[in-house]
Amino acid sequence: MQRNILIGVTGGIAAYKVVEVASRLKKSGANVKVIMTKHAVEFVSPRTFQEITGNAVSVEMFADAANFNVAHISLANWADLMLIAPATANFLAKAAHGIADDLLTTTVLAFDGQILIAPAMNTKMFDNPATQANLSILKARGVKILEPATGELACGTSGKGRLPEPVEICAEVEKIFAPKILSGKKILVTAGGTVEPIDPVRYIGNRSSGRMGYEIAKAAVNAGADVVLVSGKADVEPPSGLKFVKVESALEMREAVLSEFATVDAVIMSAAVADYRVKSPAAQKIKKSADTLTLELIKNPDILRELGTLKKSQILVGFAAETQNILDYANKKLVEKNLDFIVANDVTAEGAGFGVATNIASIIRRNGSVENFPKMSKAALAEKIIERTANLLGKL
Ligand code: PMT
Repeated sequence: MQRNILIGVTGGIAAYKVVEVASRLKKSGANVKVIMTKHAVEFVSPRTFQEITGNAVSVEMFADAANFNVAHISLANWADLMLIAPATANFLAKAAHGIADDLLTTTVLAFDGQILIAPAMNTKMFDNPATQANLSILKARGVKILEPATGELACGTSGKGRLPEPVEICAEVEKIFAPKILSGKKILVTAGGTVEPIDPVRYIGNRSSGRMGYEIAKAAVNAGADVVLVSGKADVEPPSGLKFVKVESALEMREAVLSEFATVDAVIMSAAVADYRVKSPAAQKIKKSADTLTLELIKNPDILRELGTLKKSQILVGFAAETQNILDYANKKLVEKNLDFIVANDVTAEGAGFGVATNIASIIRRNGSVENFPKMSKAALAEKIIERTANLLGKL
């Protein structure tokens, strides 16, 4: 199917990189049209985009009175996807608040399809609470935001704010057009680490960053699923386009998971759930006195095991974080927790497990088959997990 991609270019130095984005998208077979803001044409000539895309570039709201066709409406109706890159802080503010004072912002307002925004700006402007609030508003509306990269910036400083490389932007566009192998399905994903209070200021936690689970949730959204992400403590931004439920302790996670379980088609539990919690957390901060301090721990409920006993038609996917006898221990969990498959990772291997952006995993199924994956990004592993889940749900 031919895809119609409308690129909005706003006034930032990174506009030159978007010429390559347009070129790559065009070469991949898409029809590409470009709207530039008046500031964007200070950085790149509209003629460049015109030559690359083979289509006229629109800048003016009222450019062609002789050939009047309400440009913002016709472009909005034409596009399957709007990509805004680079997006300035000013554009984000206008888009978040429905301001339509030029052709691009007016077209955004008239467009009811998927919008992908790649912000690029000075780090302080990006971190400014106003910009962050505008990004939150856009995310809550289902707009996909491509996080800026970190590195040298045009203003001479270094930090977060660079436009990601064209190849990465195009990969995000590809994902949006990826087959919706989970459409009509509801998927519950858990992520992050639980936090078990010792007193009002201290807790027992673990090293989970939430990366693995957030990538799974993102891949499920990209695959067209209705996604609920129940997350403990995490270091990364939650993905957009899903229901996000923030929890702290294992007990809270259990409650959140059980309240969704009856309505979901599959659960993927990548959260690092504490096996024990402090039996009686102190109501006040524990004062330093004796040389030793003993905490009495009590077993937490095993959420996944409980789901295994409750499950009807749901597909259950677990993780096994192991440091030795990986496949044996993982297999035991697969059977004992009544799972459909388990993702085993050796959390001591370099480039695997907690915190890092990559993982090395094996998928073990009920029939004993084992798929060993090489080191890959957590995003790529998440796609494999989602494909196998879709397969079990009869969607592949
Ligand atoms: O978040 P990252 O930094 O990206 O790190 C990813 C990860 C290492 C956390 C992830 O890849 C991973 O291995 N997650 C599972 C962590 C874990 O708790 O493993 P486990 O082997 O202890 O538990 C087995 C399964 O039972 C898991 O699916 C777990 O979510 C679940 N469980 C465990 C204990 C408990 N009380 N209730 C549970 O439901």
